[in-house]
Amino acid sequence: MSVVLITGGAGFIGANFIHFLRRHRPDWRLINLDLLTYAGNLENLAPLAGDPHLTFVKGDVADRDLVGGLFDRHPITRVVHFAAETHVDRSILDPGVFVRTNVLGTCNLLDAAREHWQGPAAESGPRFLQISTDEVYGSLGPHNPPATEASAYAPRSPYAASKAGADFLARSYFHTYELPVLITNCTNNYGPYQFPEKLIPFCLSQALEGKPIPIYGRGDNIRDWLYVTDHCRALLLVLEQGAPGETYNIGGGQEKPNLELVRLLLRVLSELRPELVDLERLITFVPDRPGHDWRYALDTGKIEARLGWRPQVTLEQGLRETVGWYLAQAGWLERVRSGAYRDFLRQQYGAAVAEGQGRQKAKGKSKK
Ligand code: NAD
Ligand code: TYD
Repeated sequence: MSVVLITGGAGFIGANFIHFLRRHRPDWRLINLDLLTYAGNLENLAPLAGDPHLTFVKGDVADRDLVGGLFDRHPITRVVHFAAETHVDRSILDPGVFVRTNVLGTCNLLDAAREHWQGPAAESGPRFLQISTDEVYGSLGPHNPPATEASAYAPRSPYAASKAGADFLARSYFHTYELPVLITNCTNNYGPYQFPEKLIPFCLSQALEGKPIPIYGRGDNIRDWLYVTDHCRALLLVLEQGAPGETYNIGGGQEKPNLELVRLLLRVLSELRPELVDLERLITFVPDRPGHDWRYALDTGKIEARLGWRPQVTLEQGLRETVGWYLAQAGWLERVRSGAYRDFLRQQYGAAVAEGQGRQKAKGKSKK
């Protein structure tokens, strides 16, 4: 039986991946190591309460003794490493914690795996899957081709730099110690359980409360969007069939300027909740994010050709699923929007956006 250490399994993608594995690999034993930062929420795993194959451990990936102890006590043969600080805006406010968790935490996990996957343990074909992002390739211009796995890393935000550092360490452990590391770089995910600081759930949350939806700059920055279940399917394929030492890009092939995406999201919301009218009036242009990367896009030819993966969910379908989930889980959203969350909104956007104060002013500024 496979024993899989999943880090960050109480966060957005980690929780979706655990649900996905329960459906597709029900006999695997899962250990979920998560520090339960502001982004971690055990309620994301509530439907699995009492599952004898799922063990939760509250702790820090950067804690050497804790991580070493987990490897001592459990015959872990797979690591799927999601745990990270993940929000670019927070990395601009406080980069240090990104270096600690993303760089030192990853180094610590790699060390524990290296120490424990020697001798007979190495013969069981262990694997370490490092989950990374398209942001490490840096900002693309309108005519640049999408980044391939061979593109140079050029991170430009503290978040992207810390993920790039982690990926370089992971790659170096493959070359130096023959640790069976695989790396995936994925574009922007969306779907159930995403913390409402990221664009899609944040816009939804603001729209449901009738508060301003802040769009950075002119809203023409471009992101590629992938429904989280498509990402989970790719991760399982890479974990089981990918070649150690290789990197695989994963993306939706659905690039959109932010403003267009938000308008589509608001249209889907008003179709599902017809009483919410004229939602676009909430769109409010705010000063740009410092160093805001203009465009991310990935060439996914490698995973398509080698592992036969393709995204299955279109952006419109995925947004419908996502909005439907958030509407059905109003209590989840309510509980997540705690005092600490509001403090962050005030610090990041000011009271007008956080509390919806001065709505008239925000309304006046909006472009339609
Ligand atoms: P998230 O912010 O929703 O969740 C992160 C989880 O990690 C939380 O449960 C948090 O409690 C936990 N965590 C944070 N610090 C920790 C520590 N020191 N020790 C243990 N646990 C800790 O993140 P997400 O969006 O689910 O992203 C997961 C991974 O996927 C990250 O590595 C991220 O870089 C990568 N990724 C995310 C996206 C995206 O669009 N969300 C896209 C590509 C790659
Ligand atoms: P985000 O969800 O933070 O993901 P990332 O920056 O990692 O791609 O943001 C997605 C895009 O949306 C990005 O170009 C920044 C923009 N954005 C806004 O315009 N307003 C907001 O309030 C947020 C959170 C993001």
